[in-house]
Amino acid sequence: MLRKSAGKVPFIIITLTNNSAGGQPVSMENLKMIRQIADRYGKIVVFDSARFAENAYFIKAREEKYKDVPIRTIVLEMFSYADAMTMSSKKDAIVNIGGFIGMRNDELFRQCCVFNIMFEGYITYGGLAGRDMNAIAQGLYEGTDFDYLDTRIKQVEYLGNRLMEFGIPIQQPIGGHAIFVDAKRFLPGLKKKNSRHKPLPYSLP
Ligand SMILES: Cc1ncc(COP(=O)(O)O)c(C=O)c1O
Repeated sequence: MLRKSAGKVPFIIITLTNNSAGGQPVSMENLKMIRQIADRYGKIVVFDSARFAENAYFIKAREEKYKDVPIRTIVLEMFSYADAMTMSSKKDAIVNIGGFIGMRNDELFRQCCVFNIMFEGYITYGGLAGRDMNAIAQGLYEGTDFDYLDTRIKQVEYLGNRLMEFGIPIQQPIGGHAIFVDAKRFLPGLKKKNSRHKPLPYSLP
């Protein structure tokens, strides 16, 4: 069945961390297994890497094997399972603007450059100023610092715990970048208007 429908799947994309599940991480084991499935079916794996550093932090914090491994080493292993990546640098590269795409395959890169002409122009066109690229480079470095990540993610945890103390229903476990309040329970009087979103595939505690 899977083999039959594999032809309809152009690639596999993984969002690190999972935005729609409240910033939950993808485990290293999951990344490895996805790589194996992709290899079995000849698919490329793309990481949406916006919060890759938070993901690495959670791997370190929650997975026994990685507890003494530096964040940047964990990041290198995570990306060893990817063929390509996109980065919205406003997140874990802590900058005001900018992003980038990376890929290992020269032919794919060439195809992307051609495809890009229809939407953004030639890749040599100025998009980001050199100053902003420098800021991204510095942000990637600072954003993968353990103490920085630890302080910021614990602030989110603190906020989540305080909200729970006040009986405010939030999505759990608390993720890395945000607290998701269950508006349906917190504001039952509020009508869900014009929503095109489907209900969550899981229930909140
Ligand atoms: C996980 C993730 N990927 C990509 C994006 C897109 O980012 P941008 O607005 O920089 O295009 C976002 C934006 O919030 C995001 O959360």
